[in-house]
Amino acid sequence: MDHDLTEFRPISWQDDASVTLIDQTRLPLEEAWLRFDDYRGLVGAIREMRVRGAPAIGIAGAYAVALAAVECERQGAEDLEGALDAAAREIRAARPTAGNLAWAVDRMLERALLSGGACALVSEAKRIHEEDVVANRDIGRYGAELLDTGASVLTHCNTGALATGGYGTALGVVRSAWSQGKLSTVYATETRPLLQGARLTAWELDRAGIPFTLIPDSAAAYLMRLGSVGAIIVGADRIAANGDVANKIGTYGLAVLAREHGLPFYVAAPTSTIDLDVDSGVGIPLEHRPTDEVTSVAGVPITVQGAQALNTAFDVTPAECVSAIITERGVLRGPYHRSLESLLEAAHA
Ligand code: MRU
Repeated sequence: MDHDLTEFRPISWQDDASVTLIDQTRLPLEEAWLRFDDYRGLVGAIREMRVRGAPAIGIAGAYAVALAAVECERQGAEDLEGALDAAAREIRAARPTAGNLAWAVDRMLERALLSGGACALVSEAKRIHEEDVVANRDIGRYGAELLDTGASVLTHCNTGALATGGYGTALGVVRSAWSQGKLSTVYATETRPLLQGARLTAWELDRAGIPFTLIPDSAAAYLMRLGSVGAIIVGADRIAANGDVANKIGTYGLAVLAREHGLPFYVAAPTSTIDLDVDSGVGIPLEHRPTDEVTSVAGVPITVQGAQALNTAFDVTPAECVSAIITERGVLRGPYHRSLESLLEAAHA
């Protein structure tokens, strides 16, 4: 397998009309690749978090629409649009918080209306994928400019190549700053309950040769108090029109801590994560996942049988806690309802 993570793609379209992806539930212990030639299988993989991270979920969703179109054509279905609408509903529901998923599915349906059949939809999905990689590189460059030389950054969850089309958003900033010699170290939170930081960010940083220290989520406040953290950089699952940010559970706590300690709190995300149809974080659907993800680790129970548990997978960080939003079109500052709107207006002009 390719260990150059600047080129690493967690998901790819194959010429035999199938999609391959690295199974993120098995990393870092096993690097296993899965292949799907039916859209329902791919939707299952999104739901089970074999592919995860908002931009990667969006790309997987686009490929799922393409697979559904291929299946329709093979079966000689007459009503392609109707069939795709039904598939789109299933795909969108797989991970409700990730704005990129709804965005990518909508873009695929718009493309379907222009006709061209499955072939055009496959090309559109590949385009969504490539655009994401390019966006990440730009996010990385813009974000690195914000960091002081010798900076140490703290990041949460996994926002790297695995969570995107390739390269990464917040971890793309880390990667870019590291390649410029600006970064001293990275603190990666383990990210309970599913340990995306311990399993996936550690896997990526290790292979990229970037020094990192894994910390329990609960150590963040202590490290900030010690003065060991220069900035916090996270990704986003969805950004509302007012700049509120939905991201992995625990992000809000880090933002409040950053404010308390006078540290910059940066959110790195492509414009495909911005949802101007949602006024504020209150309108962002937050995914609730099975509680056994909290009551066990890697399938091993860690609490008493029948314990009640809470597994809200995301929280919302209010816009006023966000120092800047780093996009592929530049760095935005508050008030975000203005900067986000003008950014998207310029993008569509
Ligand atoms: O539940 P996950 O692992 O899909 O959550 C991922 C995150 O919260 C990421 O921070 C976010 O999707 C941005 S990924 C570039």
